[in-house]
Amino acid sequence: MKPSRQQEHWGSRVGVVIAVAGGAVGLGNFLRFPGQVVSYGGGAFMIPYLLSFLFIAIPLASSEWALGRRGGRLGYHSPFGIYYAVGNKSRFWGLCGGLSGLTPLVISMYYIIVEAWCLLYALQYLGGLLDHCGLGFSLLNEVKPGLLLDSSSEYGSLFESFTGMNADGSLFKNAVSPLAVVTLVCAAANFYLIYRGVSKGIERFSKIVAPLVLICSFVVIARILTLGNPTGTPGQSLIDGLGFMWNPTREIVLESGEIVRSSVFDSLSNPEVWLAATAQLFFTVSICLGATCSYASYVKPNEDVALSSVTATVANEFCEVVLGGLMAIPPAVMFLGIQAADKFGSTFSLGFIVLPNVFGQMPAGQFFGFLFFTLLFCAAITSSMSIIQPTLALFQDALRISRTVCVLLVSLVVLSGTAFVCWFTKDLAALDAFDFWLANFAPFLGGVFQTILIVRVWKLSNLQKEWDSGAIVKLPRFFGPIIKYVSLPYLAAIFAFWCYKNLKGRVLDVAENDVAQYSLIFIAALAVGLLALSWIVIERWKKEERLK
Ligand code: PHE
Repeated sequence: MKPSRQQEHWGSRVGVVIAVAGGAVGLGNFLRFPGQVVSYGGGAFMIPYLLSFLFIAIPLASSEWALGRRGGRLGYHSPFGIYYAVGNKSRFWGLCGGLSGLTPLVISMYYIIVEAWCLLYALQYLGGLLDHCGLGFSLLNEVKPGLLLDSSSEYGSLFESFTGMNADGSLFKNAVSPLAVVTLVCAAANFYLIYRGVSKGIERFSKIVAPLVLICSFVVIARILTLGNPTGTPGQSLIDGLGFMWNPTREIVLESGEIVRSSVFDSLSNPEVWLAATAQLFFTVSICLGATCSYASYVKPNEDVALSSVTATVANEFCEVVLGGLMAIPPAVMFLGIQAADKFGSTFSLGFIVLPNVFGQMPAGQFFGFLFFTLLFCAAITSSMSIIQPTLALFQDALRISRTVCVLLVSLVVLSGTAFVCWFTKDLAALDAFDFWLANFAPFLGGVFQTILIVRVWKLSNLQKEWDSGAIVKLPRFFGPIIKYVSLPYLAAIFAFWCYKNLKGRVLDVAENDVAQYSLIFIAALAVGLLALSWIVIERWKKEERLK
């Protein structure tokens, strides 16, 4: 039976695109993307990335929008309800939908923490700016306001101590750390905004924050483009930075001092690179993660989904490849040199260690550091709302209780996971485990199931009708067949190739790491809870239908 509650909708067509693009543009664009490019060999990563953009991101995003709007029209707004309704009310698809709610739920648990890191760094830089007027304040005990440190290794130790990477439980050791407080503030802001509802909370807020993200990015990029060759060292210009990101091969200095050229083939024959590139697209475009179908379910029945989905996806890509690509890698190469690029490390070290070091060396670096972390925080908060919304919708679809109680339930569940990640901070093991299994591995399974639901159960003809209804510009006819004959096999092949070569290694890693095991147990407990809830609710719906 249809959940008996008032239908919510986005306020306007432009509002939908801004809210969806705001949900998609986040830490994935400005931190995760450059971090992945650096970790997987610069330009060689861009080949699978661009292929996946064409064959996975664009077609699957538009099909997820159509699926979501169809579900919304049937009265459901969570992946659970949408899968159940579109999957001909079968128990199987209902349970798959219930389980797919796990992905956004677990991602939200750690995403809020990284959002809090950004806010704390932004405030720290603000302290530096205010310092000039005698108003400086510092939230990080170890440094003066403005994150100015003397040596590059100090940036690393600062990050380690403030995230609690040295030992589990260190965020709560003596006094409660500023990070724990700021995390709670970020969580509360998210819960309040989703409580306000899609058009009054999410849409309104996104309309204010999205321009801010763009303005801050343009200012930071203008600074980077006008730096020339700041250290005067050959090979450290803007062009070298861009070359690092776009050249599929590059020179590597071996330990013996010999210089060799890397081979594209080595990189492309590694399934980890393909998995990472495709997973990056899932994450950044927010597809097959439950978020986009939930947002699309609030689109009015006769409003366009075809053009909106393509616009939001392309806008997200612009923010990722052009803005995110220009803001992180080129300045790092310009100040620290291409040879250091291999040591830029992962997503977090690039964003929170390398870039603060770069800002420290840049004229007016405090100001640009402040803008950079402010834009990260603003982008993150619109994304975290989109990650939490599907869980709220799940409770609303399933329990038919008041919005206030649903938001309270969501906050309890999300905060329990956030507390788990905040406790197990040693080497960020819990965060890494959550991120790997839910943001890299799960989207493949989710993607394969969602695409099967669309092409086999719902059928391409219905998908096409849904795209066409209300379309300002109709999507080309070949989109449907591409999803069926290209995207689905492409996804399945990458996943199978990766499982064959790398799954065993990953499982052995888990066997050696206690916190990774606790994290998996925690995730499994949540999965069982979601399945049980879905089962009970489906049985109730079935009973109500029989009685009708
Ligand atoms: N797309 C968001 C980003 O790039 C993250 C996100 C993940 C949003 C999952 C929704 C669902 O940061």
